[in-house]
Amino acid sequence: MPTVQLNTTARITAFAAYAPEEVLTNDYFASFLDTNDEWIVQRTGMKERRKAAEHQYASDLAFEAVMRMTERYPSCLQGVDAILVATSTPDTFFPSTAAIVQARLQLPDCLALDISNACAGFVSAMQMAIGLIDAGMHQKVIVIGTEVLTKTVDYSDRSTCILFGDGAGAIILESDPQSPATCLAASSVTTGDLSGTLYRTAVSCKLNGLDLTEDGKLHQNGREVYKWALQQIPAQLQHLLNKVDLTASDLDIFVPHSANLRMIESICDRTGIKMEHTLTSVQRYGNTSAASIPLAIEEGIRDGRLVAGKLMLLYGFGGGLSQAGLLIRWTL
Ligand SMILES: CC(C)(COP(=O)(O)OP(=O)(O)OC[C@H]1O[C@@H](n2cnc3c(N)ncnc32)[C@H](O)[C@@H]1OP(=O)(O)O)[C@@H](O)C(=O)NCCC(=O)NCCS
Repeated sequence: MPTVQLNTTARITAFAAYAPEEVLTNDYFASFLDTNDEWIVQRTGMKERRKAAEHQYASDLAFEAVMRMTERYPSCLQGVDAILVATSTPDTFFPSTAAIVQARLQLPDCLALDISNACAGFVSAMQMAIGLIDAGMHQKVIVIGTEVLTKTVDYSDRSTCILFGDGAGAIILESDPQSPATCLAASSVTTGDLSGTLYRTAVSCKLNGLDLTEDGKLHQNGREVYKWALQQIPAQLQHLLNKVDLTASDLDIFVPHSANLRMIESICDRTGIKMEHTLTSVQRYGNTSAASIPLAIEEGIRDGRLVAGKLMLLYGFGGGLSQAGLLIRWTL
């Protein structure tokens, strides 16, 4: 699998996240489904998730995340020449959600592109931004992960609708050869023959020979995805650390995709990464796919665990089935 030590001028210079106001508790689901708080907490660790308002779409959440970034870093949009939006719930197939965000931000002369890699999307988009910067095509890239998954779940299916929530996060990567490196190593891998275990339909009615319901809803074989995650991720993660001569104990912070707390605990157990070094968003936000890693980073900033200088591993995984890792030194 492609795992590389990076030699990049790309630096992280701004970050923020946003979650919509409406809270969906476990008791809310128990009010109309045969489920309960105990089952959900025990199997997933989730206590609540956020739901976008009816008029709020992925571009709106993305815009709010960028606005919060400008509150923290007032001049951060100056010189931005590319926007990459990772999402599985775009406002429209085209224009890209990135183009809609570009118009609202009024950023001129800007590439605007969506990245479709489900729950690995935010990390994949960061990897793409690094590539664009090092190729000399762009100097300053906003990477956004944004999802309105509550609009895509079937609220009569208790095994999936309880899992997903909405949110967004934004980060800026820009070329800065003078400062110490912040992006240190990267890895990515896809196991496409398992794609039928987790999908959201578009215009196709078949996936790997499997007949699909063409309803735009999210479908998942949770048990199979769980099995894949525990079989594949610990080894791939170790591979990435080995590439840069590190071990799990060298990591200050681990930010895995926040799909399921039990799954994260098992991954930590198998790799030797400490849970107290792990940032998660799943308890308060559910599975927010491309937004789960930035929401977890925001939690770490708020509770003081994430400060400048920390060596951290971002690790996205999910639909594809795909994985994307990025080892960084946090500098904000
Ligand atoms: C979804 C998930 C929590 C389900 O847990 P599980 O232990 O695999 O549960 P199963 O789907 O095998 O179902 C077990 C039982 O619980 C029931 N059940 C499912 N959802 C339920 C709910 N919300 N409340 C109560 N019972 C539920 C099932 O109907 C089944 O009942 P049965 O034994 O009578 O048939 C779990 O598979 C999971 O988290 N998978 C990974 C999903 C994931 O992280 N995906 C994203 C990756 S990016």
